[in-house]
Amino acid sequence: MNTKIILACILLLSLTTLAQQTETYRIPLIGESAPKFTGQSTQGPIHFPDDYYGHWKILFSHPADFTPVCSTEIIELAEIQDDFGKLDTKIVVMSTDGLNSHIEWVRSLQSINLYDRESVTIGFPLVSDPDLEISKKYGMLHPEYSTTRDVRGVFIINPENKICATFFYPASTGRNMDEIKRVLIALQLSDKRDVLTPANWQPGDDVLIPSPASIEEAEKLASKDNPDLYSLEWYLWYKKSK
Ligand code: BEZ
Repeated sequence: MNTKIILACILLLSLTTLAQQTETYRIPLIGESAPKFTGQSTQGPIHFPDDYYGHWKILFSHPADFTPVCSTEIIELAEIQDDFGKLDTKIVVMSTDGLNSHIEWVRSLQSINLYDRESVTIGFPLVSDPDLEISKKYGMLHPEYSTTRDVRGVFIINPENKICATFFYPASTGRNMDEIKRVLIALQLSDKRDVLTPANWQPGDDVLIPSPASIEEAEKLASKDNPDLYSLEWYLWYKKSK
């Protein structure tokens, strides 16, 4: 074989390996379909996201069972699980630990009185991912942190199984469950009505409407005298919350 062919083969092999590595750790992006997986969970087998088609979903990854930050996160999530239920949202938690570990950990978590509150019943499944299949599909393994333990990932997925929001936190920092709920409510509002939510928006606050596309449109909007709308600049229009 001549040298050129050998070099071309080596280059092709290197590119294929690089592409495989990139794909292995790729984080699915907003607007894409949520990657499908089948997993064993504390509530039986799960086919995600298809089992929950038609509902909102939040997928949480965590680094390891029986660790302090993760434990507080699962308990805080269980504290507001009914709120997520009212928002027609299914919660799924996963890590690379095995199913037996998950089962024992759930049992232990349900016996804890966090901050002297009553103990919780964990109503959502914990999925095990010992082969790292889910972690790879969702880009939850960040190799400089670990190639076997997930970072703290959050994926908010709409009823049509499209990814709407993603967050990633390091292992040292516990997530704010109220913030995740706030983002979910904002997404659901924008999904239902043509409105946007401003910085630091909280449910019940006034919302934004899309900017007028032209000066003429802005003038038309201003001349309408709609008592529900007010503007701070021609491109910055609020809609009063009812
Ligand atoms: C924790 O949840 O406490 C934790 C998990 C992995 C590494 C460090 C802390």
